Amino acid sequence: MTDIPALVNARYGITNGSEDNAPHSFSDTKSHPALELLLQHKSVRQFLPQETLPAGTLELLVAAAQSAATSSNLQTWSVVATQDVKRKDEAARLCGDQDFIRAAPLFLVFCADLSRLTKASQQHQTPGVGLEFTEMFLMASVDASLAAQNVVVAAEALGLGACYVGAARNRPREVAELLHLPLRVIALFGLAIGVPDPAQPASVKPRLSQAEVLHRETWDDGAQARNLSAYDETLDDFNARQSRADAPKWTYRSAHRIATVESLHGRDILRDVLQERGFDLR
Ligand SMILES: Cc1cc2nc3c(=O)[nH]c(=O)nc-3n(C[C@H](O)[C@H](O)[C@H](O)COP(=O)(O)O)c2cc1C
Repeated sequence: MTDIPALVNARYGITNGSEDNAPHSFSDTKSHPALELLLQHKSVRQFLPQETLPAGTLELLVAAAQSAATSSNLQTWSVVATQDVKRKDEAARLCGDQDFIRAAPLFLVFCADLSRLTKASQQHQTPGVGLEFTEMFLMASVDASLAAQNVVVAAEALGLGACYVGAARNRPREVAELLHLPLRVIALFGLAIGVPDPAQPASVKPRLSQAEVLHRETWDDGAQARNLSAYDETLDDFNARQSRADAPKWTYRSAHRIATVESLHGRDILRDVLQERGFDLR
């Protein structure tokens, strides 16, 4: 049986307790395989070289995706599965030239999809005005994200590894062209999936403390500065253990990730592209 408190502590990089850094305790001693899997998530970017996943894997992953809850059962997302070596290579180029996309046997691109409801509106001759509002783009983005996270969990349950690719929004026009996306469909993010290379295992990356993200009853930002500097230290320790002692502090890196238009890596044009692609965002 796996020790759930130990996994929770590892999620926060807690090795020994202190007043600010109290180890988690949990009295239930039953086995919880789903929790164990969730608590041990890590993004995998090192895959074994192989061209395909076992037969039926893609379909099983998509069934897991479609098992996620979906707003009003509208199912406003679709996914494009890329396995062709040339198309994956081009996708990798458009997505920040990240090599792990090429190495992964499967690259999924999750899309907000309002084209299906556009057809339903036409079928029933309703104006479909709701589709013109920001709400529907947000709904589609939320639903697609929930579906994708189910894929990550399912892939990990199968012993596979996965890494999201937000860089699928770096060149949104080209990605739409590569995948032949119709109007009212836009790529939100990618997901590279493959067999993790055991010679280069990923590690559980500690998160912000719960005190930072969990607000009980009402918002409380009293301890924010202390929480953030504690997290800078926690990630420094993690990076040192990953032989990346020179990595910048989390607050520094995060501040620079959002500092300028350039730091958005091309995504500053997204509102224009959304409008071109039929998302009115009223
Ligand atoms: C929507 C989204 C987009 C991401 N895009 C990228 C990406 O383009 N490249 C990359 O290497 N990792 C990407 N990641 C992975 C994050 O860097 C990773 O989840 C984070 O550092 C935490 O690490 P962990 O997943 O191993 O816990 C993305 C994650 C999410 C949720």
